[in-house]
Amino acid sequence: MEIRSAGFALLIAALTVSCGGGGGGGDDSSGTNSSITMAELGRKLFFDTNLSSGSNQACASCHDPDNGFADPRVSVTAPVSEGSVGGVFGDRNAPTAAYASFAPSFGLVGDADQTPETDSKYQGGQFLDGRAVDLIEQAKGPFINPLEMNNASEAEVVTKVQNADYAADFIAVFGADAFNDTTIAYHNIATAIAAFEASSEVNQFSSKFDAYLMGSYALSASEQRGFDLFMDAEVTKCANCHTVGETPETSLFSNFRYYNIGTPINLNNPAYLADNSFVDEGLGASSAIAESDRNGERGKFKVPTLRNVELTAPYMHNGVYATLEETVLHYDIQVANLFITPEVNEANIAAEMNAGTFVGLGLSDQDRADLVNFMKTLTDGYF
Ligand code: HEC
Ligand code: HEC
Repeated sequence: MEIRSAGFALLIAALTVSCGGGGGGGDDSSGTNSSITMAELGRKLFFDTNLSSGSNQACASCHDPDNGFADPRVSVTAPVSEGSVGGVFGDRNAPTAAYASFAPSFGLVGDADQTPETDSKYQGGQFLDGRAVDLIEQAKGPFINPLEMNNASEAEVVTKVQNADYAADFIAVFGADAFNDTTIAYHNIATAIAAFEASSEVNQFSSKFDAYLMGSYALSASEQRGFDLFMDAEVTKCANCHTVGETPETSLFSNFRYYNIGTPINLNNPAYLADNSFVDEGLGASSAIAESDRNGERGKFKVPTLRNVELTAPYMHNGVYATLEETVLHYDIQVANLFITPEVNEANIAAEMNAGTFVGLGLSDQDRADLVNFMKTLTDGYF
């Protein structure tokens, strides 16, 4: 990495502390290594296909680093990931696992942080409906989810790690009795994965846009127009939810809050094909919140980061849009014209969406192309 601001270095230092070690990323050495960091151990766990019932699926299968840490196998017509067991599917489009470590733990938005233009009561957490309070709790889910890695129990996962060629690394990080208690060992597996997910390998901040913020890349004319449109608080309001700051680490392109933006149903979702009364209510059906509080949250999903969005098609919680162009059309025309399906709880649509005004954002073809070109500056690996 050639370019590195002081702020960026500080951020990495902070992550290292908050994850109790790790955060290093860097070169992975295979085999046992007594000085292995927690993040390096987490990397091994993240890529280990043996930790699924069919020995055919790792976290990385659905969160592939070469695909922006999202699933390369999915498309609009096959929008959700297949599990370790063939022919078995979840009901959501896998989001990127990168930059997820920046979401605060799930909770209420404090009154002091509540801004008039937002109507989100909750923030943070993991999964699109916030049902895991943080990354550690999130990482405990997939291993034993029958729709994903399908292990029979936490104990089965711990035994597999105990028999893995990196078992000694696990002991090096968590101590000689690391495997004695299944609950603690399982928690530590998740803790190591969370440390990897907080590392600089996963959160690279190495896009054109980061270089632009650090003064070493000039946006093209189209990218600059797209950026200006994106930041326009009167017309597009994109940055109201997809937060941009003055430094890479304050530009996560998500405020990690929950909104209903009128995303239509995806008729190709296997969950819908199996039962055409299927409706994904997002936060409104989440175990994260009390039953009595759900009505006002129906149809709301956590704002995704747009970092690496060029690589993570299809888009939205159900993969209903194939391209970024279509996704921008959603904001410009789709919602305004109220092409609304049962997936959407109309009463909860965010004020920013101009729903039902039949006006839309009034963007030209060029404007939409510029917005897309701007979003493509968010792909890591430029430097
Ligand atoms: C079969 C595909 C699949 C596998 C395997 C898988 N995931 Fe996921 N992941 C998903 C899907 C789908 C979601 C969204 C689910 C939801 O919101 O209900 C998700 C969500 C997440 C999120 C939350 C991101 C956010 O912004 O809220 C993280 C982090 C994550 N996964 C990490 C992992 C880790 C770590 C593993 C391995 C222990 C893993 N995943 C295994 C498909 C998968
Ligand atoms: C009111 C908050 C809000 C505003 C304003 C907003 N978004 Fe979003 N955006 C979201 C939410 C929430 C989602 C996820 C919706 C879903 O999964 O159904 C999303 C999803 C997206 C996605 C798909 C990302 C993915 O990984 O699937 C893109 C691209 C996007 N927004 C771009 C934009 C652009 C461009 C603008 C301005 C024209 C904008 N957004 C304005 C909240 C917002």
